[in-house]
Amino acid sequence: MSTNPKGQRRKYHISQRTNQISPSGIRRFFDLLASIEGVISLGVGEPDFATPWHISEAAIESLKKGYTMYTSNSGMPELRQELSRYLRNNYNLEYNPDGELLITVGVSEALDLAMRALLNPGDEVIMSDPCYVSYNPCITLAGGIPVMVPTNEENNFELSAADIETRITRRTKAILIGYPANPTGAVMSRDKLAEIAEVAQRHRILVISDEIYAKLVYDVEHTCFATLPGMKENTILLNGFSKTYAMTGWRIGYAAAPREIIAAMTKIHQYTMMCAPTMGQVAAIEALRAGEGSATEMVEDYNRRRLVMVKGLRDIGLSCFEPKGAFYAFPSIKRTGMTSEEFAERLLTEEKVAVVPGSAFGECGEGYVRCCYATSLAEIEESLARMKRFVDKYGKEA
Ligand SMILES: Cc1ncc(COP(=O)(O)O)c(C=O)c1O
Repeated sequence: MSTNPKGQRRKYHISQRTNQISPSGIRRFFDLLASIEGVISLGVGEPDFATPWHISEAAIESLKKGYTMYTSNSGMPELRQELSRYLRNNYNLEYNPDGELLITVGVSEALDLAMRALLNPGDEVIMSDPCYVSYNPCITLAGGIPVMVPTNEENNFELSAADIETRITRRTKAILIGYPANPTGAVMSRDKLAEIAEVAQRHRILVISDEIYAKLVYDVEHTCFATLPGMKENTILLNGFSKTYAMTGWRIGYAAAPREIIAAMTKIHQYTMMCAPTMGQVAAIEALRAGEGSATEMVEDYNRRRLVMVKGLRDIGLSCFEPKGAFYAFPSIKRTGMTSEEFAERLLTEEKVAVVPGSAFGECGEGYVRCCYATSLAEIEESLARMKRFVDKYGKEA
């Protein structure tokens, strides 16, 4: 609370919408983490790799040449052309670089734009619980209402089309899906996604598909939602460079969607962002042209770490659903009798290992913690040894 020159408390009138949302459950944790030395963090959801050097170098070269101005609102034409080629080569999808693609400040901005472009006050968006921490606040800030569909370990944290259908009302505007999933690492098969597509089409509801972890899959193939029959015209595809190319700080993402939707999103983007960072866009062009090899190497590395993490958690006696995508394991901590917040807080203070309480991702995340394995094998092994001590001390018999 601030005070005025007379020392009186000054009350600021923050908007109702802002007051409606809570600060991220992850943030409080990182404030605590920063105050403790020697912590191994399995908390942050980002690659531990630096951006492949040739990608950084392309951006450095562009700075030397003076490419430091705004770009077109929609993003650099070369980047949109590369992206269009990439989507054709990877998914056999045709998106016109002029009008069907928008370069954004990460998937974060693309999500916000999609919600603001689509939602009228009181419109509902259906999505899974647990889910990525930004989905709920983005919908609320756009005046919409999040409608949660519980998912659970027994059903591999997959969204069921039947469960979605029972929640559809006259106000349903969109279904928001995000597979491979944060925080569970779950993926969905093409058949199961096709069932969701069928429901969406029958009820004429748009699907917003956040596919930021599309390339981070292990022993399975990713299905791009827009490739399902009839879905290209009914999907807003969101993706970006943060995870695939270890480029979180460059802040580049994109939306691919029907022209009318991209035009609406661009209208908001041009007044609020103008354009995504120019240097980041240059780096993204290089990533699309020559980044595939480094991306594949990183995925192979994540896979090795995934196997160690999941086996390690199970050996400790924590049941752990097998994640087939992203870089998260989501073990159950129910046998300790603690809430996920309590578990995470005590593990941090007593054993100096940071994990994220599952409850930060929704009610169905209670009883679980998210462990990000995008960290070195040595740190994963040490964190497992510390967790074993902790669980041996507090874990009741399973
Ligand atoms: C599912 C999901 N979507 C979107 C984002 C945001 O990504 P970006 O860095 O592109 O804004 C994240 C980041 O963790 C994420 O996990």
